[in-house]
Amino acid sequence: MKLPRLLSAVLAVCLIFAPGANARTAPAVEAPIIDFGSRFLPVVARQGMVVGPERLAAEIGLGILEQGGNAVDAAVATGFALAVSYPRAGNLAGGGFMLVHLAEGNRQTLIDYRETAPASAGRDLFLNEAGEVDRERTYFSHQAAGVPGTVAGLVLAQARYGTLPLKQVMAPAIALAEDGLQVSFALNLEINSRAERLALNPEARKLFLTPEGEAPEVGATWRQPELAWTLRQIAEQGHKGFYQGEVAARLVAEMEAGNGLITAADLAGYQALEREPVRGSFQGAEIVSTPPPSSGGVHIIQMLNMLEGFDLAAMGHNSAAYIHHLAEAMKLAYADRSKYLADSDFEPVPVAKLIGKDYAARQRNLIDPARATPATEIAPGRVLVDESHDTTHYTVADRFGNVVSNTYTLNFSFGSHIAVPGTGMLLNNEMADFAANPGQPNAYGLVESDANRIEGGKRPLSSMSPTMVFRDGKPWLATGSPGGSLIITAVLQTVLNATVFDMNIATAAAEARVHHQWQPDKLVVEQGISPDTLQLLQAMGHNVDVAPRTLGRTQSIMLERGYLLGATDTRRLGGHVAAY
Ligand code: GLY
Repeated sequence: MKLPRLLSAVLAVCLIFAPGANARTAPAVEAPIIDFGSRFLPVVARQGMVVGPERLAAEIGLGILEQGGNAVDAAVATGFALAVSYPRAGNLAGGGFMLVHLAEGNRQTLIDYRETAPASAGRDLFLNEAGEVDRERTYFSHQAAGVPGTVAGLVLAQARYGTLPLKQVMAPAIALAEDGLQVSFALNLEINSRAERLALNPEARKLFLTPEGEAPEVGATWRQPELAWTLRQIAEQGHKGFYQGEVAARLVAEMEAGNGLITAADLAGYQALEREPVRGSFQGAEIVSTPPPSSGGVHIIQMLNMLEGFDLAAMGHNSAAYIHHLAEAMKLAYADRSKYLADSDFEPVPVAKLIGKDYAARQRNLIDPARATPATEIAPGRVLVDESHDTTHYTVADRFGNVVSNTYTLNFSFGSHIAVPGTGMLLNNEMADFAANPGQPNAYGLVESDANRIEGGKRPLSSMSPTMVFRDGKPWLATGSPGGSLIITAVLQTVLNATVFDMNIATAAAEARVHHQWQPDKLVVEQGISPDTLQLLQAMGHNVDVAPRTLGRTQSIMLERGYLLGATDTRRLGGHVAAY
């Protein structure tokens, strides 16, 4: 394994300043090199680190580590704090996936706290009289809400793998909601960009907007007493504090008032599930990622398997040849997603086949090195842009060797934009991740099959992909991203940048990304790919679209020789690496 450049720099500094160190007595270590050629450098620490989309929540997580908590304690604290400080995606009434590496037993587990469809939801829920998808109802109605999973997931993680009392872990989030936070530029911008839609729901308007219908001013103190009340119910009663009792009663009352489907029984029956992650290998490293009901891990492994057969390093990072091979692998994987992926508790999903090396070898043969295969010529193998509507990711590592990679969401930014009176919380619109009309593109332009039709109790297919890479049996990289369909390809490229191109994690996060999801047949590229590269890609037959916005937003930690190297993706405002 090559010594990453930044770590070499750190070791160099340690050697120079170590007591008594000099050229004769210094131990023989690989030559310390400061690579001034790296344009981006990570934050480096030894004890603990929380990398997330918002500073206050990351610092709260770090505070829990400093109090002696482990990475799970910190991840749970950060998750509850983001519900306060990052309302566009942090949440109590959403869902997600938490990948945990436990130092004890050197094992990994996946906590699935994806929302479920209410029991009464049927396949034609969002179809109008003409049999077409009613987009307004699918995205912005009470019926768009799945039974929330976040609280169950965080409480389960805490109970099974945390070490501090839940009350202690939740105390900072409660204080943040109660005492208030100073509105940052990012928060002001995030609320203002959704102000028109938030104003349509009286409760959301009351929570997020001034009487003039605008976000609270930058620097103003923003308090959320009702959210503090809800958080306190959870801190005091755990799972029951949300799924039964007064919080549940308020949620059900809002459903009844708004023609929603979630009942008291739906809430009482919700359970977060612990699942076995999906596993693969790439160039000698082990890839551990998110299983169904997310499609993320399956397709990341599938694409890595296909790409392993090409000399990507020789092609050069973000060369036309490299991007072409990425795009072709992406098309094949997303075509398979459109047919096979769904909640595996309801539908048979051929996971083992899709992540198998044999299958990848066959699929690889379909890639023409010189020509883009039109999406119309790609069918799902025999055995799927809009920018992120939203979701968020954070990564935590502690001094004990535990690592947590967590992605959770309300689906769109601010979910359905409907708030539950007396709770301070927004409802998700995750039901939009089902195939409302199988074969028709969903909100992310993704085409999905009947396997992802709406059924009571089922979990909608997700793309959330908290992922870890292990080298020599030890966690080496933990990452994830928001972005709906963009998540999978953002994580894929972060892993490739770090492994194939030996980039430090900050550079791996910052480099320009591309995305193809089979349909629509477009190769979407971020700004920063050279015009002549784009011309070469067009000459190969790619329908290239320079994205007006960025593709995903990773939050990553790399673990090297006892050091934690963290990078928050600079594509969006407000990200933070909290470390000590
Ligand atoms: N709601 C976005 C996803 O789960 O992929």
